[in-house]
Amino acid sequence: MKFAAGITTALLAIGTASAFAPQSFAAKASSSLNIATEPVYTFTKSEEIFAEAQELMPGGVSSPVRAFKSVGGNPVVFDRVKGAYAWDVDGNKYIDFVGTWGPAILGHADDDVLEAVTKTMAKGTSFGAPCPLENELAKAVIAAVPSVEMVRFTNSGTEACMGMIRLVRAFTGREKVIKFEGCYHGHADSFLVQAGSGVATLGLPDSPGVPASATKATYCAEYNNLDSVKAIFDENKDEIAAIILEPVVGNSGFIKPDKEFLEGLRKLSEENGALLVFDEVMTGFRVAYGGAQEYFGITPDVTTMGKVIGGGLPVGAYGGRREIMEMVAPAGPMYQAGTLSGNPLAMTAGIETLKKLSQPGVYAELERKSQKLVDGIIAAGKKYGHSITGGTAGGMFGWFFNEAPVTNFAEASKSDSEKFGKWHRMMLERGVYLAPSMYEAGFMSMAHTDEDIENTIAIADEVLSKL
Ligand SMILES: Cc1ncc(COP(=O)(O)O)c(C=O)c1O
Repeated sequence: MKFAAGITTALLAIGTASAFAPQSFAAKASSSLNIATEPVYTFTKSEEIFAEAQELMPGGVSSPVRAFKSVGGNPVVFDRVKGAYAWDVDGNKYIDFVGTWGPAILGHADDDVLEAVTKTMAKGTSFGAPCPLENELAKAVIAAVPSVEMVRFTNSGTEACMGMIRLVRAFTGREKVIKFEGCYHGHADSFLVQAGSGVATLGLPDSPGVPASATKATYCAEYNNLDSVKAIFDENKDEIAAIILEPVVGNSGFIKPDKEFLEGLRKLSEENGALLVFDEVMTGFRVAYGGAQEYFGITPDVTTMGKVIGGGLPVGAYGGRREIMEMVAPAGPMYQAGTLSGNPLAMTAGIETLKKLSQPGVYAELERKSQKLVDGIIAAGKKYGHSITGGTAGGMFGWFFNEAPVTNFAEASKSDSEKFGKWHRMMLERGVYLAPSMYEAGFMSMAHTDEDIENTIAIADEVLSKL
């Protein structure tokens, strides 16, 4: 396994030759390497495979942000993952804070999840018919998430959000919805308005191919700004079906809401006969077991979920009060369906993941580790005179190269993107895998050890001293 020379100094600095360090640690540590400028990771195989991929798939990827467009350079091509770590095809090992974009909250390829999925697989991979595993996961989700009395499973967060928007329109008999700048709700047409994440990463204001008619009923407000929401209600009396938001934003980088903002949205939606929707595809079972609604103590009418509830397999879900969910076919007239929805493998991975997450102390520990990491990175940044700010919620976190705390997308986009690009590459070359865009959050898992976090901070210290 190749290993970044930089990390050896980092480890020496904190006096921990961890399990993460290579066998050759002592030899490298005793040599006088110019560690700052000569990280030892090389990416020959990644480069070859990605070059071929670009001929085969648009941009060489199956989802845009993976292509590293906003940070420069090519992506590394993964070979395998386990626990808190990922290995690329060149044999480089990384401490991974992307966690397949959120699902890997137990750590990658958790043994118990793998065992349960293997057992289920022996019975078949898809039934296309009711199975008891759906009931089991549904019961776990309903028990955990305050707003959910009934749930519909889908195969992705995007599908869940597509079902959700149709549902809020069907239930209220209204078409217009309010979303927020920089919030992402999957790639369905009506949500691709100032949608943060991949769209912002690629500098696309909106996507071509989205008909104007699909977004004309989508109104955009500013996050953490209640007045901007009130103004839309005032101009569209009795016409708004729902306010839809990420209750902690992870698609403009990491942005936390003011509690008063969430309380205000709850009140405004009630006063105006609109539904309040928390898109918890990212935050569900991530910031707390019951999601952001438990974390902040504010219950929406409808919730979308994904990522963690699939335990690394493709699952999404939307749920809410019984009277709302009974609009969904075949209980009601609102149509939404899926060949592979509720498939036994994905249900099993979700059930096993939730079982482990429901143990006492899990979220306090995730928050402690996230806080430790963010505090360490911010302290290191400030030590070398960088403007840096950040925050955490449960197992989700982030930082910006920005003067002031970030409360909305406009402020996030003023962060130093050039510095972020260099930071990202230097961390990567030294064995830390961070999301390749400043418009993404980071994810902590139960598998990350204090040593992983201390090593990451030590590596960051070295990188920040040279940025
Ligand atoms: C808040 C939110 N909603 C919806 C989605 C779409 O989910 P998926 O990528 O599973 O389609 C995402 C994906 O990152 C998300 O973060």
